[in-house]
Amino acid sequence: MSVGADLVVANLSVEYRTSGDVVRPFERVDLRARYGELVALRGPSGCGKTTVLSVLAGQLTPATGTVTLDGRPIEGHRTVGIVFQAFNLIPSLTAAENVMAPLVLTGVSRRAARATATRLLDELGLVARADHRPGTLSGGEKQRVAFARALVHDPPLLLADEPTAHLDADHVGVVLDLLRGLASGGRLVVVATHDDRVSALADSVTQLDPSVVAA
Ligand SMILES: Nc1ncnc2c1ncn2[C@@H]1O[C@H](COP(=O)(O)OP(=O)(O)OP(=O)(O)O)[C@@H](O)[C@H]1O
Ligand SMILES: [Mg+2]
Repeated sequence: MSVGADLVVANLSVEYRTSGDVVRPFERVDLRARYGELVALRGPSGCGKTTVLSVLAGQLTPATGTVTLDGRPIEGHRTVGIVFQAFNLIPSLTAAENVMAPLVLTGVSRRAARATATRLLDELGLVARADHRPGTLSGGEKQRVAFARALVHDPPLLLADEPTAHLDADHVGVVLDLLRGLASGGRLVVVATHDDRVSALADSVTQLDPSVVAA
């Protein structure tokens, strides 16, 4: 745990309330990390990995604790890139259009958005697939389109939820290289994973221990 970390998660817990029940998937999680690092969030299914990523994405408000990036609360922080557990690509759009979508939605011209999408797809070795729809792409290709889309705003913090879960060994290698390369480029990359190959590459591993509290 380094002093002067860029990302500081302190004493974090989250509560889900459903029909009178309160579920706290974990208690008082702490995590400190710096830009340029690859951080793995580990733990069994249901321990709260996706929940922690949702807090880091500013999509979920903690019950206790604080999350700061660059010394400021994560809520309302400038863009965080997210690669979802199930990719969440839009099936009717091509690979390029999926990558362009977040840019076009924030008012960037289609021409500029296409140029950015083409550059990112090229960097990820997918330019030949730019005009394919997700249904015609392999799992590894879809995963890389999802990474390209998460990178369009050049986010300093990139979150990836089980990025190797649906991939065969060849594609896992590509995604591992990608994760390592993105972190080496100065981003902070936080990955929720069951995969020992991801943890082995990570600069630090935060283990979430299940402690479900029902009240
Ligand atoms: N929207 C929700 N409402 C109520 N409970 C929820 C909600 N989302 C998650 N949970 C519960 O919180 C706990 C943690 O869920 P989470 O999805 O964060 O786990 P996970 O570690 O990502 O699991 P997996 O490895 O299966 O993806 C689980 O017990 C889950 O049932
Ligand atoms: Mg999950």
